[in-house]
Amino acid sequence: MSSQRTDHHIDELVDSLTLEEQVALLAGTDFWHTVAIERAGIPAMRVSDGPAGARGTLFEGGPASVNVPCGTSLAATWDPPLVEEVGHLLGKESRAKGARVLLAPTVNLHRTPIGGRNFECMSEDPHLTARIAVAYVRGLQAEGVAACIKHFIGNDTEFERNTIDSHIDERTLRELYMVPFEAAVKQAGVMSVMTSYNRINGPWAADSVAMIDDVLRGEWGFDGLVMSDWFGLHSTAEGVIAGVDLEMPGPTLHRGPKLLEAVEQGKASAADVRRAARNVLSAMHRLGAFDDGEPGPELTRDVPEDRSLVRRAGAQGMVLLRNERAGDVPVLPLRLDGVNRVAIIGPNAARGQTEGGGSAHVHATHLSNPLEALSVALGKHGIEVTHAVGCPTHKRLPALQPALCTPFVVDFFRDVEGADASEAQPDLSTTPESSRIMWMSDPIDPDVGSAIPGFSARFRTTFTPDVTGAWEFGVSSVADAKLYLDDGLVVDNSTQPTGGSFFGLGKTEKVEASYLQANRAYQLEVRLRRPTTDNAFSGVQIGAYPPTLADPVDEATELAAAADLTIVVVGTNDDWESEGYDRDDMALPGRQDELIARVAAACAHTVVIVNAGSPVSMPWLDDVGAVLYTWFPGQEMGDAVVDVLLGDVEPQGRLPVSFPARLEDTPAFEHHPGRNGVANYLEGRLIGYRWYDTVGRQPLFPFGFGLGYATVVIAAARQLDDAVEVDLVNESDRDGVQVVQVYAARTGAAEHRGDDEPAQQLVGFVKARVPARATTTVTMQLDPRAMHTWSIADHDWVPVEGPFELRVGTSSRDIAVRIGTTAGQVTKSSAAPNHS
Ligand code: BGC
Repeated sequence: MSSQRTDHHIDELVDSLTLEEQVALLAGTDFWHTVAIERAGIPAMRVSDGPAGARGTLFEGGPASVNVPCGTSLAATWDPPLVEEVGHLLGKESRAKGARVLLAPTVNLHRTPIGGRNFECMSEDPHLTARIAVAYVRGLQAEGVAACIKHFIGNDTEFERNTIDSHIDERTLRELYMVPFEAAVKQAGVMSVMTSYNRINGPWAADSVAMIDDVLRGEWGFDGLVMSDWFGLHSTAEGVIAGVDLEMPGPTLHRGPKLLEAVEQGKASAADVRRAARNVLSAMHRLGAFDDGEPGPELTRDVPEDRSLVRRAGAQGMVLLRNERAGDVPVLPLRLDGVNRVAIIGPNAARGQTEGGGSAHVHATHLSNPLEALSVALGKHGIEVTHAVGCPTHKRLPALQPALCTPFVVDFFRDVEGADASEAQPDLSTTPESSRIMWMSDPIDPDVGSAIPGFSARFRTTFTPDVTGAWEFGVSSVADAKLYLDDGLVVDNSTQPTGGSFFGLGKTEKVEASYLQANRAYQLEVRLRRPTTDNAFSGVQIGAYPPTLADPVDEATELAAAADLTIVVVGTNDDWESEGYDRDDMALPGRQDELIARVAAACAHTVVIVNAGSPVSMPWLDDVGAVLYTWFPGQEMGDAVVDVLLGDVEPQGRLPVSFPARLEDTPAFEHHPGRNGVANYLEGRLIGYRWYDTVGRQPLFPFGFGLGYATVVIAAARQLDDAVEVDLVNESDRDGVQVVQVYAARTGAAEHRGDDEPAQQLVGFVKARVPARATTTVTMQLDPRAMHTWSIADHDWVPVEGPFELRVGTSSRDIAVRIGTTAGQVTKSSAAPNHS
């Protein structure tokens, strides 16, 4: 069908609808579907989270999905073709879940290392983020699934995300935060964009004419579907006028009859409504969603090719940060001769954190954790493996262990007092599998509409502890909740502040201890009261933690002392790195720093594996032999770790973010999180390495850094018009990989520089494979925007006065060759978007 015919067809279809029907199309029908209009042959269309896998319509307990590496892990591969393969996989996964839109990728930038969703985003650098995002979108959309790139714009941390006003100057927006979105529109034809929760320079992002209508649609020519973040639309007329086509989720809070009335009163026009309805239909048409009929069942795909792709991608994103020599050879790859016993220590060894928390969570089709995978691999060499957790790292207490409980029952009462009245008859009873429960709609009547009447709920089980002592019980909940043991009140969370659980909408967990006898049965009840609300989302988590009898760090240290080699697997988890809140600092949670220091003192050969989605501090760095940073590498984590540790896969990940020595050194430190409802981006264009390299501060590890087992060096580099050609030499006997990076630095005219002009910026990179003892020449295209700046006066990209230096290196701090140049030699067109 020609595009003209397509346009005509959609015009006819939208004009055949009544105004009411057009308005109905402008909001979801539920959490994950658009509205169907049967009369006109318009089916509902399903959308699904998210960047690490296509989850489908259930947060918990739905069909399993392939869990791919998180955003930082994908960016750490510096490998767009590999990411494009992952995009294809996600496209197939989305189709298996009956979804035509995947709510991904997340391309906000790492403004500070403690942003709660940094793991989901890719990098501190717009060029790297853009190239990874373009590849992701291309792969995904080639499978007939729209990428919904998010969150546009200024949602770079989670602090007060639902209300904060991000104040970002125009040049910083253009040169940093908008770049990945612009590239996705212009180079990948991204079909959908999600607005962010926050305000941007005043108006809500979802009401911003300046961002959506002027820049996204006007300047960049975006002609796809714009949807709000979930409950992130705040207006009836303004959002439609600005260009938010779809309010999500449904049923509508702000549109429907309210929008019809606004049109009647002339606050929004019928043309605004028609345009938005047309965008919804046009997206469906392009995707072929009209032929789908109603969205089909949600299925699990689990094929060997997917597992091996996730394993390969996860391994290739891992960054080797340290690899000291033990005797005359490096600690890694592991040499197993003479090794009889290996201690595998740490909270993430058996857990294997494959993903971050929040809406990016999926329930994986397969899970491989480091303890199991290493035990199998080392077992083949006859090596004994010992294991200790070392220390707990939970942020919220772990959910109740089903093995200590009778099946859970939840009774729901329409009456908000019902749960407290023992004689009241429940309106509904359910049997959840877990004591972490979320409701996406009214639990008693899912069709009740958008104003959710109040309800109360009573969670019950018989809890039989296996240990005597002071048990901790915790409750976090979107509503007031109280936990009772044998009718005695133990935890009352009603006084807790909101934030810290359930996407920031729930109360911080309240924990209290209670002394219990082992093998005695206790009646455990949690009663919660949810008042009438217009936000259907609700949830409760009930956790318990047993008394600690011996010091777990002592136990782990003893195992390390008795081992020839210790592998410590530390990190964060999906509660520390999640949605709705940031981390407080960069420290590893719990006593992990102490654990590593003591283990390293007890065992001469210690390898640390850090399993976190964003940077953590490493006070023990100098005391350990090797450090491998895995990020959240997806469901095949354990096998991918083995591949790198044993040297079957060359370490080839490079840092997509600078690792600061201290949080106080970081660019946004003085301005984050914000004050009085405003996040002032006063560091301007100086985020990440742009800051460290401009102000001359030493990071712990620079942007772009990563070691290999092979030594691949840059021997020479030449400029070829708008590209750079580099000769690489592999000086070792192993096949190697190098990620060559080019930074542009203005070397003259210092007096013309703005206060926040970065000393240098990434303008190109290439990942090269170089066989053992071989020489290779590779070519990198330079970003056509290199050596340009956004001019506020011209409202356009303009060349910056030179001269420049092109710095060719292997990190922002390891520069091998400097090439002098002028702007004219390098860039051709000021209007061209960034290079893909
Ligand atoms: C997140 C989005 C997500 C949506 C649907 C929101 O809380 O910010 O990224 O796609 O929920 O789960």
